[in-house]
Order: sequence, then C-alpha cells, then structure tokens
Amino acid sequence: MSEIRYAERLKNMQGNVIREILKLTQQPDIISFAGGLPSPDSFPVLVLAEIAREVILDKRDILQYGTTEGYLPLREFIAGWVKGIGIEATTEEVVITSGSQQGIDLIAKAMIDKGDTAVVESPTYLAAIQILKTYQANFAVAHGDHEGVSVDELEATIARENPKIAYLVPTFQNPTGITLSLERRKAVGALLAHHNTVLVEDDPYGRLSFTDEVLPAIKAYDSSQRVVYLGSFSKLVSPGLRLGFAVGEPSLLRKMVIGKQGADVHTNNLAQAMVYEFCRRGHLEPHIQSIRTQYGHKLKVMQDCLKDLPADIKWTSPTGGLFIWGELPQGMDAGQLLVAAIKEKVAFIPGESFYVEGGHKHTMRLNFSNATPDNIREGMRRLKVALQNYR
Ligand SMILES: Cc1ncc(COP(=O)(O)O)c(C=O)c1O
Repeated sequence: MSEIRYAERLKNMQGNVIREILKLTQQPDIISFAGGLPSPDSFPVLVLAEIAREVILDKRDILQYGTTEGYLPLREFIAGWVKGIGIEATTEEVVITSGSQQGIDLIAKAMIDKGDTAVVESPTYLAAIQILKTYQANFAVAHGDHEGVSVDELEATIARENPKIAYLVPTFQNPTGITLSLERRKAVGALLAHHNTVLVEDDPYGRLSFTDEVLPAIKAYDSSQRVVYLGSFSKLVSPGLRLGFAVGEPSLLRKMVIGKQGADVHTNNLAQAMVYEFCRRGHLEPHIQSIRTQYGHKLKVMQDCLKDLPADIKWTSPTGGLFIWGELPQGMDAGQLLVAAIKEKVAFIPGESFYVEGGHKHTMRLNFSNATPDNIREGMRRLKVALQNYR
C-alpha cells in the first residue's frame, strides 16, 4: 500500500512530549509532579452540578447553536472582570475560546504564514511552540532572569527580526513560575508602539497568586492596541470545561473569529452558560481564594522538601501558579533522572522541550498543585532517592 500523503506542516511534528510522559504517569502508584493539572478536589462539583441542571432546564437555547464570538452575558462579565488587572475593554473586544490554547492557535492561524517569525521566551510554554510550529513559524528567542523576560533583549530581537508575533506568559510562567516585574510590563507595553508586532499575552495563572500582590496585565499599558490578552477558566474552575477568552482589538479578533468558525463553530454553550452563572452567583472569587490557599500551602510543602535535595540544584521561588523550575548542575540529564525517578514511582517533566533552541538537558519542571500534601512529601522523598541513584 502506498504511504499516506501527510501535509508538510505536520510531517516532522512529534507528539507533545508532556502528553506522552503523562501517559506513563497514569499508573496509580506513581506520584506525578509532571502535568499542569489543578487539584481534582478543587473542582466545585456540587455547585456546577446544580447550575448545569438549572441552566439546561431554564435556558433551552443553550442546547442550540450559538454565536462564534461567544455567549453574550459571559463576554460582558469578562469585559468587566479584566478591569481588575487594568484592562479597559468593551464586550466587542472579548471573544470566548475553547480554552486559552485555542486562543493561541487562532492568533497563529490568523497571522502566521510559513516562514514568518515569532518571538518567544526561552524557555516557554511547550504547546505554544507546538502550535507555532504547526503554522510553520520561524522562531527567535528572548532570554530573561528572575524578573521575567529581558526587555532590552526582547526589543532588540523584535527590531532585528520584525516578528509578526511575540508570545509571553508574564505571570507565574509555565514552565518557570517566574513573574514579569511591573516596570518591565510597562516597558513591554510601551515598546510595542514602535514595532509592527502583536504581543500574545497568555495569562492562565495570573489569579493564582499566593500573596496579595495583583500586577496589572501588560495589556493595561497597551496604548497601541497591539496586545491580545488570553485568559482561561481552566485553572480557576475546571480545565475539562475548555473555556478561555481573548481580549483585543476588534479587527484582529474578527480574524480570529473567522478562524474559529472553521475550527469549532463556537465554544460549548453549556460550559459558557455554566461558568457565567458560576460567576454571576458570586462563586468565582471565593473559589479562587480557596484554591490560592490550598495551592499556596502545597507550594510551601514542596519548597520545604526541596531543602532536603542536593544544594547544587537551583530552584525558582514562585509566589503563585502551578510550577517550580529546577536547574540541575550542568552535565546532568533530567531525561535520565526521569528514568531513575519512574523506577522510584515519581514523575516530573524534563525541561528540554520548553526550549525552541533545544539543549538545556539539565532543567526540569515540578508541578505542586495536583498531588496532596502527603503525596508531595512522599514524592519528594522518592525524587531524592532517584537523584542519589542517578549520581
Ligand atoms: C501558559 C499556558 N497557556 C495556555 C494553556 C492552555 O490552557 P487552557 O486549558 O485554557 O487551554 C496552558 C495550560 O497549561 C498554559 O500553561
């Protein structure tokens, strides 16, 4: 039989490494720090069940086709909600997406032709790399430090490469947990006025702060309307509902809507109506508070355990989000460490796949939201054994 003739865009694409590792960690006796999963006991099951029942019975329309832009009351709610992080938006400047992942995909679909350049942080969110590769983008990278991406390097890269898109996760970044400082947010917003580059500000973790500090979005400083802000209810309510949103300039959103028409017509109406009711009835903020407390505690438990690991491993110190990032001593291979770790029944994600430029085999990401505090302690004990076996 002759070979199936795949599209060039997917010919050399590998599956998402994390998804492959997650398959390995499905065994029940493995303690996994690998995924970016919320804690299953954080899901507001009873409230959502009640709301789902009422919404289906009272609003028969939500079982009908809806508009591609999204459920109007939810768009209105979001336009008001993002004021909390300094974004002024009308309802027309909000589009509902099937997770913020779809937001990244729709912007790339609208803007990236084969060979166009996208600037990303190094390291950055693995699935964003995967999406941009699917659209056959070229990559340029900007590095950063404990305050997030270097604005000088970002601007120099933008000036040199004239990218169509810059992609940043400024708050509690995936994978590093690092947050872009206030000064740098202002500077990034300002620099966009001098370049024809759209910034994708991907922010699924911003509300998961374990301190009282709430930083404004970069979009709050977007005088040139060049920022598309992506938000998500995945980490705040439930990822299975697949609900996110994009806030941006209407003509760019319109292109995304045209792309979405062909992708899925519209985001699941029931999920939209349920999350809207969840917010309207005042459940969202108390729920966020309770997750912040729970995850803040888990972070502390994991950080205490890190003190028992060899001192030559450098760890980031996030104040929110879901991840801690580690740098093993140069020359160590986190992929090999993972083999030793799986033998001890604990898993994490090696860092290499978060770098478009590859390398960095000595880096790794730990998730602290999914396991219980007791399992975090036990998993970190196992990781210590794996490190001893590796060395
Ligand atoms: C940085 C980043 N962007 C987007 C997503 C996708 O989130 P969603 O479930 O909203 O599609 C994730 C999920 O882990 C993420 O870490």
